[in-house]
Amino acid sequence: MKVLNLLSLGALLATAFAQGADIGAPADGSTVRRGSKIIVEIDRPDTLTGSTEIAIVIGFLFCGQSLTSQCPPPSEILGTILYNGNYTPEFHTGVMKPPHQNFTVKVPSSASLGKAQLGVAHFSLVGVSFRSTQSFA
Ligand SMILES: *[C@@H]1O[C@H](CO)[C@@H](O)[C@H](O)[C@H]1NC(C)=O
Repeated sequence: MKVLNLLSLGALLATAFAQGADIGAPADGSTVRRGSKIIVEIDRPDTLTGSTEIAIVIGFLFCGQSLTSQCPPPSEILGTILYNGNYTPEFHTGVMKPPHQNFTVKVPSSASLGKAQLGVAHFSLVGVSFRSTQSFA
C-alpha cells in the first residue's frame, strides 16, 4: 500500500492492490503536484516464474483533505484510471531492481488538495491449468 500526499499543491499516497506486483515508485507519502507527470514503477517479484501477464490498471483516488484521511482499499475502488494496458516487466541492466516497467502518468489537474491514493490492479495468470472432458454419446 502506498499513499501519496497532495501537499500545498497536493500530496500523494501510493497503494498497491496487486498480488505479484509492487509499486516501486513513487514512495509512499510522496508529495506530488496536481497536473504533473510522475513515473510509476511497477515491480514484479523475480520469484513469480511461470506467470502470464495480462494487464495492469493504475488508478488515482482522492481520499480527503486531511493527511490522516483514510483511503479505501484499491480492491474496492481505483478511482480515476490513469493507465490501463499491457504490463511487460523486464530486467534492466545496471539497475539493482526486480523486473519492472515504468509508466509515466499525469496527476489529474482537477484533483483536490489533500491525500490521494495511487492504486494498482494487476492481472495475471499464475499456475493456471486447463482441463477439459469430452464425452461422446
Ligand atoms: C524506473 O523509474 C525509477 C524511479 O524513477 C528509476 O529508479 C528506474 O531506474 C527506472 N527504470 C528504468 C528502466 O528506467
